[in-house]
Order: sequence, then structure tokens, then C-alpha cells
Amino acid sequence: MSLTRKASSRKSKTCSREPSAAELEQLAKIPSAAPFLNNRILILQRGQELASFLVWRSVSPDEFEILQVETLSQFRREGLARKLLRLFLLQIRGNVFLEVRESNAAARKLYESEGFMEIGRRGQYYTDPSEDAIVLKFCSC
Ligand SMILES: CC(C)(COP(=O)(O)OP(=O)(O)OC[C@H]1O[C@@H](n2cnc3c(N)ncnc32)[C@H](O)[C@@H]1OP(=O)(O)O)[C@@H](O)C(=O)NCCC(=O)NCCS
Repeated sequence: MSLTRKASSRKSKTCSREPSAAELEQLAKIPSAAPFLNNRILILQRGQELASFLVWRSVSPDEFEILQVETLSQFRREGLARKLLRLFLLQIRGNVFLEVRESNAAARKLYESEGFMEIGRRGQYYTDPSEDAIVLKFCSC
């Protein structure tokens, strides 16, 4: 991607919202989204296309869990996941937890640059391949 496209797309307007029925059908075809469709979902579009989604649930009135954040591959490195994460964090008040694969450098950089703190590790939490999870926490107060 050229720097020009990256810079201009960062300026383009995006707003987060819950998915429509048609978008839920589209999400159901994405293997990493399909298992989570009975949770709360926020999406960002690029133009008319679903570009990025964030799946979350409320564990208690002031505790939340992010279950998945993903930007479709053709829209990556345009700032969409960061934007979606920020929009989500503005909507809730309390502690937010998530797990991320230890080797997922891109996601870890995103979360850590947004202020998530490492609070623990779950040994061999993931399978296929087996890998530890890093547990992160953010306080949206
Ligand atoms: C991780 C993911 C959601 C990032 O989405 P994105 O829309 O491309 O992210 P952004 O453009 O908002 O980037 C935000 C920051 O994340 C980090 N980042 C994103 N992709 C990166 C990469 N490939 N390598 C290193 N850092 C990366 C950077 O710090 C980046 O900030 P910068 O562009 O100012 O350097 C995306 O790569 C993805 O969908 N991965 C597969 C699903 C996944 O692993 N989800 C996380 C599950 S916990």
C-alpha cells in the first residue's frame, strides 16, 4: 500500500455500529468471527464494505471482555482496528480484559499502544498450534 493511500484512508470518515442482518450473515462466513456471533459486535466499514469487527461481552456491569478484534486482510494497516478499539472503549466504563497469542506481535502492539497492561499468562491456552495466551487489562474509567 502506498503511503498516500494509508494517509488519506486514515482521514476518511468511519463510524462504528452493530452489524445488520446481512452483515451478520457475512460475519458468519468468517471462521474467526463465526463462533462469536451470539456476543455483542461492533463493525467498521470502509466505503460500503465491512472492514473491521470487534466482538465483546459484558461479564458484569463494570467488567468486559474483548473476544476478537479483526480487520479483513485487504484493509489492514489503515488504522481501522485502532479506531474501532477506541470507539468501543469510549462506550463502556470499567475494566476490559482480553487474551492474545504470545506470538501475535501485531495485536499486542496495537493493544499495548492503546494502554492495555499485561497482567498474566495462561499456559498453552491456545491449540493448533499450542501457545500461551497473554492476558491484558485496560481500565476505561
Ligand atoms: C491485529 C489486527 C486486528 C490489526 O488490525 P489493523 O486494522 O491492521 O490495525 P491498525 O492499522 O489499526 O494498526 C494499529 C497498530 O497495530 C500495530 N500493528 C498492526 N498490524 C501490524 C503488523 N502487521 N505488524 C506490526 N504491528 C502491527 C501497529 O502498532 C499499528 O500502529 P501503526 O500503524 O501506527 O504502527 C489485524 O492484523 C488482524 O485482523 N489480525 C488477525 C486477527 C487477530 O490477530 N486479532 C487479534 C486477536 S486478540
